[in-house]
Amino acid sequence: MRTVITITLFIITGIFTALFFGFDLSEASKTLEYDDEQEGIQDRLVIQFSHVVAENTPKGMAARRFASLVESRTDGEIKVQVHSNGTLYNDQQEYQALKEGRVEMIAPATSNLTERFPKWQVLDLPFAFPSHQAVEEAYEGVIGETLLQELEKEGIKGLTFWYNGYKQVTNNSRPIVYPNDFDRLHFRIMPSPVIEAQFEQLGASTSVLPFNKTYRNLEVGFVNGQENTASNIYSKKLYQDQSYMTISNHGYLGYAVLINQEFWDSLSKEHQQIIESSMTETTSWIRRHAIELNDEHTRRLRQQENLQINYLTQAQREAWKRRLTPIYYRVEADVGEKLMMEIYDLQDKYGN
Ligand code: LMR
Repeated sequence: MRTVITITLFIITGIFTALFFGFDLSEASKTLEYDDEQEGIQDRLVIQFSHVVAENTPKGMAARRFASLVESRTDGEIKVQVHSNGTLYNDQQEYQALKEGRVEMIAPATSNLTERFPKWQVLDLPFAFPSHQAVEEAYEGVIGETLLQELEKEGIKGLTFWYNGYKQVTNNSRPIVYPNDFDRLHFRIMPSPVIEAQFEQLGASTSVLPFNKTYRNLEVGFVNGQENTASNIYSKKLYQDQSYMTISNHGYLGYAVLINQEFWDSLSKEHQQIIESSMTETTSWIRRHAIELNDEHTRRLRQQENLQINYLTQAQREAWKRRLTPIYYRVEADVGEKLMMEIYDLQDKYGN
């Protein structure tokens, strides 16, 4: 009897509640609110663009600029998702990820391609480029064209070269101005036989380490120093556990902007043209701004009290060059006569 009363009370309460608050059938039948982000989401193409540097660097800013140009010129049909700071892949993983189609675009430092494509070593030669104009001529002339063609055999399309700047040397032990000052120091390098040979020729040893592990390795003293552009040194605080920096301009760090060929072939002609024109515009932007950004970051590095900065004199620069000349003979066979001649011509033209 008690159970019957309880059930009856439960049903009556239910009916009153429903009448009072109402069954919100209108809510259930209402269509979803309009969200333009969702419109045509199935048709939208996404380009995952992975890189390893900070956003306030030449490459970081160029990647974002390219992304917004492509997005606006395709009316949102293509979205370029930029992953900076190596959050998706580090510099030793990104090439393989591109080849396997796990990302569509990357922009590695050209040095990172030298082991797979030995001709690319030409860009790492010490004192290869006497001026920014020489770099530009190399990237946009025969050297650049030949190197980008090399990539085709691995299913990679090279779109262009992006600029960063000349490399400088930092270390925690002593001022480095003459070649002998490198003696027995240990440096972090990118995976490049020429760069390894360069330090060896200067009497120093090296470890290949990913870019985003460099700070930590300097901090714990596993390496004494490293070479990089002012923008990378400043933005990643690579100066923090270093006492000396040499403005040596002894090598150039720039990028190859790469896209997965299969992905490229799947795009419509119209989308390919938009990517190309956005890339051309971004390349001329980075060509103009990379120098300014590195100058600005050098100024900020000069304000760091822990850091003594030395500029090479002409005599010191000549001493570095003399010591490093044998590297040119070491790479000749790998690089080939054609590209070596191009480099020598640039040096004659711009006065090395
Ligand atoms: C480095 O590893 O030092 C550079 O490749 C980082 C970069 O991409 O500029």
